[in-house]
Amino acid sequence: MFSFSDPSMFSRRCVLVNGPVIVGAGPSGLAVAAGLRQQGVPYVILERADCIASLWQNKTYDRLKLHLPKKFCQLPNFPFPEHYPEYPTKRQFIEYLESYARNFDINPLFNESVESAKYDEACGLWRVQTVNNNGSKVEYICQWLVVATGENAERVVPEIEGLKEFGGEVIHACDYKSGEKFRGKKVLVVGCGNSGMEVSLDLCNHDAKPSMVVRSSVHVLPREILGKSTFELAMFMLKWLPLWLVDKIMLFFAWMILGNIEKYGLKRPYLGPLELKNNHGKTPVLDLGALEKIRSRDIKIVPGIKRFLCGMVELVNGEKLEIDAVVLATGYCSNVPYWLQESEFFSKNGFPKAPFPNGWKGNDGLYAVGFTRRGLSGVSADAVKISQDIGKVWKDDLKQIKKQKVPTHRRCISTF
Ligand SMILES: Cc1cc2nc3c(=O)[nH]c(=O)nc-3n(C[C@H](O)[C@H](O)[C@H](O)COP(=O)(O)OP(=O)(O)OC[C@H]3O[C@@H](n4cnc5c(N)ncnc54)[C@H](O)[C@@H]3O)c2cc1C
Ligand SMILES: NC(=O)c1ccc[n+]([C@@H]2O[C@H](COP(=O)([O-])OP(=O)(O)OC[C@H]3O[C@@H](n4cnc5c(N)ncnc54)[C@H](OP(=O)(O)O)[C@@H]3O)[C@@H](O)[C@H]2O)c1
Repeated sequence: MFSFSDPSMFSRRCVLVNGPVIVGAGPSGLAVAAGLRQQGVPYVILERADCIASLWQNKTYDRLKLHLPKKFCQLPNFPFPEHYPEYPTKRQFIEYLESYARNFDINPLFNESVESAKYDEACGLWRVQTVNNNGSKVEYICQWLVVATGENAERVVPEIEGLKEFGGEVIHACDYKSGEKFRGKKVLVVGCGNSGMEVSLDLCNHDAKPSMVVRSSVHVLPREILGKSTFELAMFMLKWLPLWLVDKIMLFFAWMILGNIEKYGLKRPYLGPLELKNNHGKTPVLDLGALEKIRSRDIKIVPGIKRFLCGMVELVNGEKLEIDAVVLATGYCSNVPYWLQESEFFSKNGFPKAPFPNGWKGNDGLYAVGFTRRGLSGVSADAVKISQDIGKVWKDDLKQIKKQKVPTHRRCISTF
């Protein structure tokens, strides 16, 4: 990495990166970095937070565990420790990622938030601009750009009438840690994805009184079927059977194990769980105990929200509920459209346009890792392809350069 700053020439410091720039030091960025390190390709990782895996470290609740068996969640070339349980806890997962970073000697540049990235046709390089905590700006210039900012980079906060006038505490699920501080309180949980279900369960376990808003429909599946992970079973069946049939089988098992959930207000979507996930990115809920609390009415299911009033919510059915606090378990979105100035590879929703398995490589040295809507197993699949692809070009370039005896950075420097 060459660095040069000349205030008379540039308004910001410029860093010429010999190798790719990876944006984001979550599991995706770490996995690509590890693959590059193994091939001897230098790189720079830019991370807006002050730690690796900031989603897991700062934006998740205490009781969180991986919801798929560990073999589907480990990153390439570094298995989970054998003593880890089948579903590692959040702390164990963070410790695993920290030892992953140590093992592959990955040292991200922290507190560097990427605010724009653009391909410069004139020089054939990416210009990546960052701002750090004290407002100072840096421009990184590189041949390859790896987008690893995640599917869940920003919280989604819906605009709901009257929310500002409500008066009680309103938090997003990413700021929820435990139900301890809500003991004895009436809490409205907005959303019934995995976060909404688990926050509601956690509130119950802390003697709070949650009501969960289910405005449309949701697939709830048992985490395990006949002692096997539901996810693993689905993946196994997909090897032999078409997706629609696997969906039907999953729903049959769900009905056998969980019973008819519609009578509790949990309407099932028209599309099957795998089809819905593949086509619309909507994750089915894997039940970890919330359903039992819904059956016993410890978690009350309520329909959509019409508006908030002072200390109250009015629902679309006209019912008014007194509530003390609101947890918005309303999901997350990608932040790529806010900073990446590119519209061929990424669509407006911040995901690659090409569906899995083709959404990892764009033009002009652009890559995306971790946007497959397949969780950590999708992360690993992308990361291996990306690091090998860059590694191959890197090695070919190196051979050429050795033949011609050209300094590796000559092409870049000539652009200034
Ligand atoms: C509550 C919760 C639980 C989950 N549980 C599971 C699970 O059990 N199993 C599973 O497979 N998946 C799970 N997921 C999905 C989760 O997204 C993945 O597990 C994993 O974190 C994806 O890794 P990633 O590196 O792609 O994204 P992230 O982990 O989100 O990492 C992206 C990194 O990029 C950084 N970043 C973002 N924007 C910028 C920027 N502009 N400049 C610099 N840095 C930036 C972020 O700070 C972050 O550190 C869960 C998600 C949530 C929200
Ligand atoms: N390891 C784990 O156990 C675990 C735990 C939590 C999360 N996760 C993962 O993290 C990701 C995000 O999950 P998530 O549950 O946070 O988000 P999500 O799956 O996107 O669910 C968001 C929920 O909010 C609802 N919603 C949004 N706006 C609303 C509004 N204005 N009024 C009422 N409801 C509204 C949605 O309803 P509609 O469907 O009607 O839009 C949906 O039920 C998923 O991939 C999930 O699997 C994993």
